[in-house]
Amino acid sequence: MRLLVTGGCGFIGTNFVYLMQERHPDWEIINLDKLTYAGNRKNLLSIENNNAANYSFVHGDICDKEFVSNTLEEHKIEAVVNFAAESHVDRSINDPAPFLTTNICGAQNLMECARQAGIEKFVHVSTDEVYGSLGMNDPAFTENNPLEPNSPYSASKASADLMARAYFETYNFPVSITRCSNNYGPYQFPEKLIPLMYTKVITGEQLPIYGDGSNIRDWIYVDDHCTGVELTLLKGQPGRAYNFGGAAEKTNLELVHELLAILGKDESLITYVTDRPGHDQRYAMDYAVAEKELGFAPSVTFEQGIKKTIKWYQDNGQWLEDVRSGAYREFMNEWYGDRK
Ligand code: NAD
Ligand code: DAU
Repeated sequence: MRLLVTGGCGFIGTNFVYLMQERHPDWEIINLDKLTYAGNRKNLLSIENNNAANYSFVHGDICDKEFVSNTLEEHKIEAVVNFAAESHVDRSINDPAPFLTTNICGAQNLMECARQAGIEKFVHVSTDEVYGSLGMNDPAFTENNPLEPNSPYSASKASADLMARAYFETYNFPVSITRCSNNYGPYQFPEKLIPLMYTKVITGEQLPIYGDGSNIRDWIYVDDHCTGVELTLLKGQPGRAYNFGGAAEKTNLELVHELLAILGKDESLITYVTDRPGHDQRYAMDYAVAEKELGFAPSVTFEQGIKKTIKWYQDNGQWLEDVRSGAYREFMNEWYGDRK
Protein backbone atom coordinates (compact mmCIF):
# COMPACT_ATOMS: atom_id res chain seq x y z
CA MET A 1 0.00 0.00 0.00
CA ARG A 2 1.19 3.53 -0.77
CA LEU A 3 0.07 5.42 2.32
CA LEU A 4 0.10 9.15 2.97
CA VAL A 5 0.47 9.89 6.69
CA THR A 6 -0.06 13.53 7.59
CA GLY A 7 1.37 14.92 10.83
CA GLY A 8 3.82 12.01 11.00
CA CYS A 9 6.42 14.13 12.81
CA GLY A 10 4.12 14.70 15.77
CA PHE A 11 3.69 12.45 18.79
CA ILE A 12 1.18 9.86 17.57
CA GLY A 13 2.24 10.11 13.92
CA THR A 14 5.86 9.28 14.81
CA ASN A 15 4.84 6.21 16.80
CA PHE A 16 2.47 5.18 14.00
CA VAL A 17 5.18 5.39 11.32
CA TYR A 18 7.61 3.29 13.41
CA LEU A 19 4.95 0.69 14.14
CA MET A 20 3.70 0.43 10.57
CA GLN A 21 7.27 0.14 9.22
CA GLU A 22 7.80 -2.76 11.57
CA ARG A 23 4.48 -4.46 10.87
CA HIS A 24 4.14 -3.72 7.16
CA PRO A 25 7.61 -3.36 5.61
CA ASP A 26 5.98 -3.68 2.18
CA TRP A 27 3.98 -0.46 2.66
CA GLU A 28 5.39 2.73 1.20
CA ILE A 29 4.84 5.56 3.70
CA ILE A 30 4.93 9.20 2.65
CA ASN A 31 4.95 11.51 5.66
CA LEU A 32 3.55 14.98 4.95
CA ASP A 33 4.14 17.44 7.78
CA LYS A 34 4.20 21.21 8.12
CA LEU A 35 6.65 20.97 11.03
CA THR A 36 4.87 23.31 13.42
CA TYR A 37 6.31 23.66 16.93
CA ALA A 38 4.92 20.14 17.57
CA GLY A 39 6.48 18.49 14.53
CA ASN A 40 10.01 17.16 14.84
CA ARG A 41 11.53 15.58 11.74
CA LYS A 42 14.41 14.32 13.85
CA ASN A 43 12.00 11.82 15.47
CA LEU A 44 12.14 9.69 12.32
CA LEU A 45 15.76 10.33 11.42
CA SER A 46 16.73 6.71 12.02
CA ILE A 47 14.36 5.71 9.22
CA GLU A 48 15.48 8.54 6.93
CA ASN A 49 19.13 7.70 7.52
CA ASN A 50 18.51 4.19 6.24
CA ASN A 51 17.51 5.73 2.90
CA ALA A 52 14.64 3.30 3.04
CA ALA A 53 12.80 3.08 -0.26
CA ASN A 54 9.58 2.57 1.68
CA TYR A 55 9.66 5.94 3.50
CA SER A 56 9.82 9.54 2.39
CA PHE A 57 9.19 12.89 4.00
CA VAL A 58 7.50 15.84 2.33
CA HIS A 59 7.41 19.23 4.00
CA GLY A 60 4.12 21.05 3.54
CA ASP A 61 0.71 22.11 4.74
CA ILE A 62 -2.52 20.12 4.49
CA CYS A 63 -4.25 23.45 3.74
CA ASP A 64 -2.27 23.84 0.49
CA LYS A 65 -4.42 22.40 -2.28
CA GLU A 66 -1.85 22.37 -5.05
CA PHE A 67 0.84 20.88 -2.85
CA VAL A 68 -1.43 18.15 -1.45
CA SER A 69 -2.81 17.24 -4.90
CA ASN A 70 0.69 17.06 -6.36
CA THR A 71 1.88 14.88 -3.49
CA LEU A 72 -1.04 12.47 -3.93
CA GLU A 73 -0.38 12.26 -7.66
CA GLU A 74 3.41 12.10 -7.57
CA HIS A 75 3.47 9.29 -5.02
CA LYS A 76 0.44 7.48 -6.45
CA ILE A 77 -1.13 7.46 -3.01
CA GLU A 78 -3.77 4.78 -2.36
CA ALA A 79 -4.76 5.61 1.23
CA VAL A 80 -4.47 8.51 3.68
CA VAL A 81 -4.28 8.70 7.48
CA ASN A 82 -4.76 12.24 8.74
CA PHE A 83 -3.02 12.92 12.05
CA ALA A 84 -2.11 16.54 11.17
CA ALA A 85 -3.69 18.93 13.63
CA GLU A 86 -3.25 21.60 16.22
CA SER A 87 -3.73 19.36 19.23
CA HIS A 88 -3.37 21.25 22.51
CA VAL A 89 -6.53 22.42 24.29
CA ASP A 90 -4.80 25.22 26.26
CA ARG A 91 -3.33 26.71 23.07
CA SER A 92 -6.80 26.62 21.47
CA ILE A 93 -8.15 28.62 24.40
CA ASN A 94 -5.42 31.23 23.96
CA ASP A 95 -5.85 31.45 20.18
CA PRO A 96 -8.51 29.39 18.37
CA ALA A 97 -7.72 30.60 14.81
CA PRO A 98 -4.95 28.12 13.84
CA PHE A 99 -7.19 25.31 15.08
CA LEU A 100 -9.93 26.30 12.65
CA THR A 101 -7.41 26.65 9.82
CA THR A 102 -5.70 23.28 10.15
CA ASN A 103 -8.27 21.12 11.91
CA ILE A 104 -11.27 22.17 9.83
CA CYS A 105 -10.11 23.79 6.58
CA GLY A 106 -6.99 21.63 6.33
CA ALA A 107 -8.94 18.43 6.94
CA GLN A 108 -11.53 19.45 4.34
CA ASN A 109 -8.82 20.33 1.83
CA LEU A 110 -7.14 16.98 2.37
CA MET A 111 -10.42 15.13 1.88
CA GLU A 112 -11.24 17.15 -1.24
CA CYS A 113 -7.82 16.48 -2.80
CA ALA A 114 -8.10 12.80 -1.87
CA ARG A 115 -11.59 12.62 -3.34
CA GLN A 116 -10.42 14.16 -6.60
CA ALA A 117 -7.48 11.74 -6.68
CA GLY A 118 -9.81 8.75 -6.22
CA ILE A 119 -8.19 7.60 -2.96
CA GLU A 120 -9.40 4.16 -1.82
CA LYS A 121 -9.36 4.73 1.95
CA PHE A 122 -9.11 7.76 4.20
CA VAL A 123 -8.81 7.54 7.99
CA HIS A 124 -9.52 10.77 9.80
CA VAL A 125 -8.04 10.75 13.30
CA SER A 126 -10.37 12.49 15.72
CA THR A 127 -10.77 12.49 19.48
CA ASP A 128 -13.08 11.57 22.35
CA GLU A 129 -13.28 15.29 23.19
CA VAL A 130 -15.86 15.79 20.41
CA TYR A 131 -18.44 14.16 22.72
CA GLY A 132 -18.00 16.79 25.44
CA SER A 133 -17.85 15.86 29.10
CA LEU A 134 -19.28 13.03 31.23
CA GLY A 135 -20.67 13.17 34.75
CA MET A 136 -19.13 10.81 37.31
CA ASN A 137 -21.90 8.22 36.98
CA ASP A 138 -22.58 8.51 33.26
CA PRO A 139 -21.89 5.51 31.04
CA ALA A 140 -18.82 5.81 28.82
CA PHE A 141 -19.15 7.53 25.43
CA THR A 142 -20.41 5.38 22.56
CA GLU A 143 -20.35 6.34 18.89
CA ASN A 144 -24.04 7.26 19.28
CA ASN A 145 -23.37 10.07 21.75
CA PRO A 146 -24.11 13.52 20.31
CA LEU A 147 -21.15 15.75 19.45
CA GLU A 148 -21.04 18.38 22.22
CA PRO A 149 -17.52 19.85 22.14
CA ASN A 150 -16.58 22.41 24.79
CA SER A 151 -13.20 23.84 23.77
CA PRO A 152 -12.13 25.55 20.54
CA TYR A 153 -9.90 22.50 19.95
CA SER A 154 -12.70 19.96 20.33
CA ALA A 155 -15.13 22.15 18.37
CA SER A 156 -12.63 22.22 15.50
CA LYS A 157 -12.24 18.42 15.64
CA ALA A 158 -16.03 17.90 15.79
CA SER A 159 -16.44 20.20 12.78
CA ALA A 160 -14.02 18.05 10.78
CA ASP A 161 -15.90 14.92 11.86
CA LEU A 162 -19.11 16.45 10.50
CA MET A 163 -17.34 17.37 7.27
CA ALA A 164 -16.09 13.78 6.96
CA ARG A 165 -19.65 12.56 7.44
CA ALA A 166 -20.83 14.99 4.76
CA TYR A 167 -18.12 13.76 2.37
CA PHE A 168 -19.28 10.19 2.88
CA GLU A 169 -22.99 10.99 2.53
CA THR A 170 -22.59 13.41 -0.39
CA TYR A 171 -19.77 11.91 -2.42
CA ASN A 172 -19.59 8.36 -1.06
CA PHE A 173 -16.04 9.30 -0.04
CA PRO A 174 -14.43 6.29 1.73
CA VAL A 175 -13.65 7.97 5.05
CA SER A 176 -13.70 6.37 8.49
CA ILE A 177 -13.22 8.35 11.70
CA THR A 178 -11.31 7.27 14.81
CA ARG A 179 -12.06 8.82 18.20
CA CYS A 180 -9.55 8.01 20.90
CA SER A 181 -8.95 8.97 24.50
CA ASN A 182 -5.77 10.50 26.00
CA ASN A 183 -2.59 9.01 24.60
CA TYR A 184 0.75 8.80 26.36
CA GLY A 185 4.12 7.33 25.39
CA PRO A 186 7.42 8.26 23.69
CA TYR A 187 7.85 11.51 21.69
CA GLN A 188 4.96 13.40 23.31
CA PHE A 189 5.57 17.14 23.37
CA PRO A 190 6.14 18.26 26.97
CA GLU A 191 3.12 20.57 27.06
CA LYS A 192 0.76 17.62 27.65
CA LEU A 193 0.13 16.39 31.19
CA ILE A 194 2.45 13.36 31.50
CA PRO A 195 5.62 14.65 29.80
CA LEU A 196 5.02 18.10 31.33
CA MET A 197 4.86 16.69 34.85
CA TYR A 198 7.87 14.42 34.22
CA THR A 199 9.90 17.39 32.96
CA LYS A 200 8.93 19.53 35.92
CA VAL A 201 9.80 16.78 38.39
CA ILE A 202 13.30 16.35 36.96
CA THR A 203 13.90 20.10 36.86
CA GLY A 204 12.48 20.55 40.37
CA GLU A 205 9.67 22.88 39.28
CA GLN A 206 6.17 23.10 40.75
CA LEU A 207 3.60 20.70 39.24
CA PRO A 208 0.56 22.77 38.18
CA ILE A 209 -2.71 20.91 38.73
CA TYR A 210 -5.69 22.68 37.20
CA GLY A 211 -8.59 23.19 39.63
CA ASP A 212 -8.79 20.48 42.27
CA GLY A 213 -7.26 17.70 40.14
CA SER A 214 -10.47 15.68 40.09
CA ASN A 215 -10.89 15.72 36.30
CA ILE A 216 -10.78 12.24 34.83
CA ARG A 217 -9.09 11.09 31.63
CA ASP A 218 -8.99 7.59 30.13
CA TRP A 219 -5.32 6.90 29.33
CA ILE A 220 -4.23 4.73 26.41
CA TYR A 221 -0.67 3.76 25.51
CA VAL A 222 0.08 5.30 22.12
CA ASP A 223 0.83 1.98 20.38
CA ASP A 224 -2.68 0.77 21.21
CA HIS A 225 -4.18 3.85 19.58
CA CYS A 226 -1.92 3.29 16.55
CA THR A 227 -3.21 -0.28 16.35
CA GLY A 228 -6.76 1.10 16.37
CA VAL A 229 -5.91 3.40 13.48
CA GLU A 230 -4.23 0.53 11.62
CA LEU A 231 -7.30 -1.69 12.10
CA THR A 232 -9.56 1.12 10.90
CA LEU A 233 -7.39 1.54 7.82
CA LEU A 234 -7.55 -2.18 7.07
CA LYS A 235 -11.07 -3.09 8.15
CA GLY A 236 -13.06 0.06 9.01
CA GLN A 237 -16.35 0.68 7.25
CA PRO A 238 -16.59 3.90 5.23
CA GLY A 239 -18.87 6.46 6.84
CA ARG A 240 -18.37 5.02 10.33
CA ALA A 241 -16.71 6.34 13.47
CA TYR A 242 -14.86 4.04 15.90
CA ASN A 243 -14.13 4.73 19.56
CA PHE A 244 -10.82 3.65 21.11
CA GLY A 245 -9.87 3.80 24.78
CA GLY A 246 -7.42 2.37 27.25
CA ALA A 247 -9.82 1.25 30.02
CA ALA A 248 -7.70 3.28 32.45
CA GLU A 249 -9.70 6.11 33.97
CA LYS A 250 -7.75 8.22 36.45
CA THR A 251 -8.12 11.60 38.06
CA ASN A 252 -5.28 13.95 37.21
CA LEU A 253 -4.25 13.91 40.85
CA GLU A 254 -4.11 10.09 40.95
CA LEU A 255 -1.99 10.11 37.82
CA VAL A 256 0.49 12.65 39.18
CA HIS A 257 0.75 10.70 42.45
CA GLU A 258 1.57 7.53 40.48
CA LEU A 259 4.19 9.39 38.47
CA LEU A 260 5.77 10.77 41.64
CA ALA A 261 5.79 7.31 43.23
CA ILE A 262 7.60 5.79 40.23
CA LEU A 263 10.14 8.63 40.28
CA GLY A 264 10.57 8.24 44.05
CA LYS A 265 9.53 11.84 44.78
CA ASP A 266 7.16 13.21 47.38
CA GLU A 267 4.11 15.39 46.74
CA SER A 268 5.55 18.70 47.88
CA LEU A 269 5.94 19.98 44.31
CA ILE A 270 2.19 19.72 43.59
CA THR A 271 0.55 23.09 43.32
CA TYR A 272 -3.09 23.86 42.54
CA VAL A 273 -3.56 26.53 39.88
CA THR A 274 -6.51 28.29 38.26
CA ASP A 275 -8.70 25.84 36.39
CA ARG A 276 -8.77 25.57 32.59
CA PRO A 277 -11.85 27.47 31.29
CA GLY A 278 -14.56 25.02 30.19
CA HIS A 279 -12.50 22.14 31.63
CA ASP A 280 -14.19 18.83 30.72
CA GLN A 281 -14.75 16.82 33.91
CA ARG A 282 -14.52 13.28 32.62
CA TYR A 283 -13.83 11.24 29.49
CA ALA A 284 -14.41 7.49 29.24
CA MET A 285 -14.66 5.40 26.10
CA ASP A 286 -16.88 2.47 25.25
CA TYR A 287 -14.95 0.74 22.47
CA ALA A 288 -17.23 -2.31 22.11
CA VAL A 289 -17.87 -1.54 18.41
CA ALA A 290 -14.15 -1.51 17.63
CA GLU A 291 -13.73 -4.68 19.68
CA LYS A 292 -16.47 -6.49 17.77
CA GLU A 293 -15.92 -5.16 14.25
CA LEU A 294 -12.17 -4.55 14.16
CA GLY A 295 -10.83 -6.94 16.81
CA PHE A 296 -9.42 -4.04 18.87
CA ALA A 297 -8.44 -4.32 22.54
CA PRO A 298 -5.90 -2.24 24.45
CA SER A 299 -2.89 -4.45 25.16
CA VAL A 300 -0.83 -2.29 27.51
CA THR A 301 -2.05 -1.62 31.05
CA PHE A 302 -1.51 1.81 32.53
CA GLU A 303 0.97 0.38 35.03
CA GLN A 304 3.07 -1.11 32.19
CA GLY A 305 2.67 1.86 29.89
CA ILE A 306 3.61 4.55 32.36
CA LYS A 307 6.78 2.69 33.35
CA LYS A 308 7.76 2.24 29.68
CA THR A 309 7.05 5.90 29.03
CA ILE A 310 9.09 7.18 31.95
CA LYS A 311 11.97 4.91 30.98
CA TRP A 312 11.83 6.28 27.43
CA TYR A 313 12.05 9.86 28.69
CA GLN A 314 14.88 8.91 31.04
CA ASP A 315 16.77 7.19 28.21
CA ASN A 316 16.09 10.06 25.80
CA GLY A 317 17.07 13.08 27.87
CA GLN A 318 18.65 14.70 24.82
CA TRP A 319 15.37 14.53 22.89
CA LEU A 320 13.60 16.29 25.74
CA GLU A 321 16.40 18.84 26.05
CA ASP A 322 16.30 19.58 22.28
CA VAL A 323 12.55 20.01 22.33
CA ARG A 324 12.56 22.19 25.42
CA SER A 325 15.37 24.41 24.20
CA GLY A 326 14.06 24.59 20.63
CA ALA A 327 17.32 23.07 19.33
CA TYR A 328 15.33 20.71 17.17
CA ARG A 329 14.04 23.73 15.28
CA GLU A 330 17.56 25.03 14.68
CA PHE A 331 18.42 21.62 13.27
CA MET A 332 15.45 21.85 10.93
CA ASN A 333 16.27 25.44 9.95
CA GLU A 334 19.68 24.25 8.80
CA TRP A 335 17.90 21.61 6.80
CA TYR A 336 15.40 23.90 5.11
CA GLY A 337 16.86 27.38 5.21
CA ASP A 338 14.17 29.68 3.85
CA ARG A 339 11.66 26.88 3.36
CA LYS A 340 10.93 26.36 7.05
P1 NAD B 1 0.90 16.66 17.81
O1 NAD B 1 0.55 18.06 18.12
O2 NAD B 1 1.97 15.97 18.59
O3 NAD B 1 1.33 16.53 16.27
C1 NAD B 1 0.63 17.18 15.25
C2 NAD B 1 1.48 17.08 13.98
O4 NAD B 1 0.74 17.69 12.90
C3 NAD B 1 2.82 17.82 14.05
O5 NAD B 1 3.83 17.04 13.48
C4 NAD B 1 2.58 19.07 13.22
O6 NAD B 1 3.77 19.59 12.64
C5 NAD B 1 1.60 18.56 12.18
N1 NAD B 1 0.77 19.64 11.60
C6 NAD B 1 0.09 20.60 12.26
N2 NAD B 1 -0.54 21.41 11.38
C7 NAD B 1 -0.27 20.91 10.14
C8 NAD B 1 -0.65 21.30 8.83
N3 NAD B 1 -1.43 22.37 8.62
N4 NAD B 1 -0.20 20.57 7.78
C9 NAD B 1 0.60 19.49 7.98
N5 NAD B 1 1.02 19.11 9.21
C10 NAD B 1 0.57 19.80 10.27
O7 NAD B 1 -0.46 15.85 17.88
P2 NAD B 1 -0.73 14.35 18.38
O8 NAD B 1 -0.92 14.35 19.84
O9 NAD B 1 0.25 13.45 17.75
O10 NAD B 1 -2.17 14.13 17.73
C11 NAD B 1 -2.31 13.61 16.41
C12 NAD B 1 -3.79 13.54 16.07
O11 NAD B 1 -4.45 12.68 16.98
C13 NAD B 1 -4.52 14.87 16.14
O12 NAD B 1 -5.44 14.94 15.09
C14 NAD B 1 -5.24 14.84 17.46
O13 NAD B 1 -6.42 15.62 17.42
C15 NAD B 1 -5.55 13.36 17.58
N6 NAD B 1 -5.66 12.82 18.95
C16 NAD B 1 -4.68 13.04 19.86
C17 NAD B 1 -4.79 12.46 21.13
C18 NAD B 1 -3.73 12.67 22.18
O14 NAD B 1 -3.94 12.26 23.32
N7 NAD B 1 -2.59 13.25 21.87
C19 NAD B 1 -5.90 11.68 21.44
C20 NAD B 1 -6.90 11.48 20.47
C21 NAD B 1 -6.75 12.05 19.23
O1 DAU C 1 -8.81 13.08 25.09
C1 DAU C 1 -8.02 13.18 23.94
C2 DAU C 1 -7.28 14.50 23.96
O2 DAU C 1 -6.31 14.40 25.00
C3 DAU C 1 -6.64 14.85 22.63
O3 DAU C 1 -7.64 15.01 21.66
C4 DAU C 1 -5.80 16.12 22.76
O4 DAU C 1 -5.10 16.35 21.54
C5 DAU C 1 -4.79 15.91 23.87
O5 DAU C 1 -4.04 17.10 24.06
C6 DAU C 1 -5.49 15.53 25.17
O6 DAU C 1 -6.27 16.64 25.67
P1 DAU C 1 -6.33 16.97 27.25
O7 DAU C 1 -6.70 18.39 27.40
O8 DAU C 1 -7.11 15.95 27.97
O9 DAU C 1 -4.76 16.73 27.61
P2 DAU C 1 -3.74 17.56 28.52
O10 DAU C 1 -2.52 16.72 28.61
O11 DAU C 1 -3.58 18.97 28.05
O12 DAU C 1 -4.46 17.58 29.93
C7 DAU C 1 -4.83 16.38 30.58
C8 DAU C 1 -5.54 16.75 31.87
O13 DAU C 1 -4.58 17.34 32.76
C9 DAU C 1 -6.64 17.77 31.71
O14 DAU C 1 -7.68 17.47 32.62
C10 DAU C 1 -5.99 19.09 32.09
C11 DAU C 1 -4.97 18.66 33.14
N1 DAU C 1 -3.75 19.48 33.21
C12 DAU C 1 -3.05 19.67 32.06
C13 DAU C 1 -1.89 20.40 32.07
C14 DAU C 1 -1.11 20.64 30.78
C15 DAU C 1 -3.31 19.98 34.43
O15 DAU C 1 -3.94 19.78 35.48
N2 DAU C 1 -2.14 20.71 34.44
C16 DAU C 1 -1.42 20.96 33.31
O16 DAU C 1 -0.38 21.65 33.39
